[in-house]
Amino acid sequence: MKLVSLLAFVSLISSALAVYVTSADGTQIWAESTGDPTQPAVVFIPGFSCSSLAFEKQWGDPIMNSNLFMVRYDVRGQGISGQPMNQSFYGSQQFAQDFKAVIDYFGVGNKKPILAGWSMGGITAADVATYYGVNLIGGVVLMGSFPYRSMHPLVATPWILSFIPQLLNYSLPAFGPTAKTFAESCVAYGGQLDQGTKYTWMGALAGQHPDVRVWSIPHTQNESALMAANRTIPYLVLHGTMDKHVDGQNLRNFMNNNFGNFVFRLWNNTGHASFFDNPGGANFEIIAFARRLRDGWTILSSSPDSAIFPPP
Ligand SMILES: *[C@@H]1O[C@H](CO)[C@@H](O)[C@H](O)[C@H]1NC(C)=O
Ligand SMILES: *[C@@H]1O[C@H](CO)[C@@H](O)[C@H](O)[C@H]1NC(C)=O
Ligand SMILES: *[C@@H]1O[C@H](CO)[C@@H](O)[C@H](O)[C@H]1NC(C)=O
Ligand SMILES: *[C@@H]1O[C@H](CO)[C@@H](O)[C@H](O)[C@H]1NC(C)=O
Ligand SMILES: *[C@@H]1O[C@H](CO)[C@@H](O)[C@H](O)[C@H]1NC(C)=O
Repeated sequence: MKLVSLLAFVSLISSALAVYVTSADGTQIWAESTGDPTQPAVVFIPGFSCSSLAFEKQWGDPIMNSNLFMVRYDVRGQGISGQPMNQSFYGSQQFAQDFKAVIDYFGVGNKKPILAGWSMGGITAADVATYYGVNLIGGVVLMGSFPYRSMHPLVATPWILSFIPQLLNYSLPAFGPTAKTFAESCVAYGGQLDQGTKYTWMGALAGQHPDVRVWSIPHTQNESALMAANRTIPYLVLHGTMDKHVDGQNLRNFMNNNFGNFVFRLWNNTGHASFFDNPGGANFEIIAFARRLRDGWTILSSSPDSAIFPPP
């Protein structure tokens, strides 16, 4: 792994470092850190066709910056990371290697960072478990997300299933309305999404070659290594009742039936980007989760679905 280029970056909150990290196969992964390096590390991974700029309400929050060391990166084929034009670059192992390269670069590879994924970003935990062991990470935060790829049909909404073919459409005339619908579908009240954010999210979609969308969406993985730890690996699930992509009640049922150590929050007036629609709630819960893990809590609660965290 080597530093290929260093981008000047100015932050009002703290000194952030934005870099390109070289993944195992040579793909350049754009990544950035902020916050306090002595605090627990949380690595934010955006969803399908999105960029890590989506985490602006975590990134710019002074309380998050003083309580956490935050890392975010653009998934390969997304944002301003490398976009190799061959499907063989979009496999489970490559997604795991990108995470590993990023945490090693920022010096948290041996510190059990928390993997915090939005939507498809959350399933990276299964890639990491397969190729590096589940103990590489301290816990997982799922935001509008789900634990692994092959269970997606159990929680996918009819709306997103019907929309995916449109998202993969090569037609240029169809693209503008598709990008707008996609961006707006990520929040509870799409018509009220501010213009700057809307165009940032549409822009992430526009910057991606349509082939890369087609190659990335299968994300075939073997969840055995992750699920071998299903009773113990700590999960924090932050979900909205208005999520148009992932059904919160079905996800809650799946977590209850298949995992043993999690906290589940299902918020009203909150959509797919739960961390964006409810940043106060999300930031509070993420800090509390990180503190519990830092303080050596191995089991979060005997009643995981309703656990109350101590205040940060
Ligand atoms: C894609 O990658 C595979 C495996 O590395 C290789 O065999 C194949 O020739 C590549 N295809 C193209 C079109 O470059
Ligand atoms: C793709 O877009 C074209 C319009 O440009 C439309 O005719 C076609 O039905 C679309 N296909 C899908 C799967 O949405
Ligand atoms: C998945 O991984 C497990 C080992 O963790 C292995 O036994 C199993 O054969 C793998 N499944 C597939 C389909 O490769
Ligand atoms: C969940 O964990 C238990 C206990 O380790 C194990 O017996 C079970 O097979 C796991 N479930 C899956 C789906 O791997
Ligand atoms: C969320 O909405 C449901 C249905 O409208 C309502 O019953 C419930 O009390 C609300 N919860 C909170 C915390 O406001």
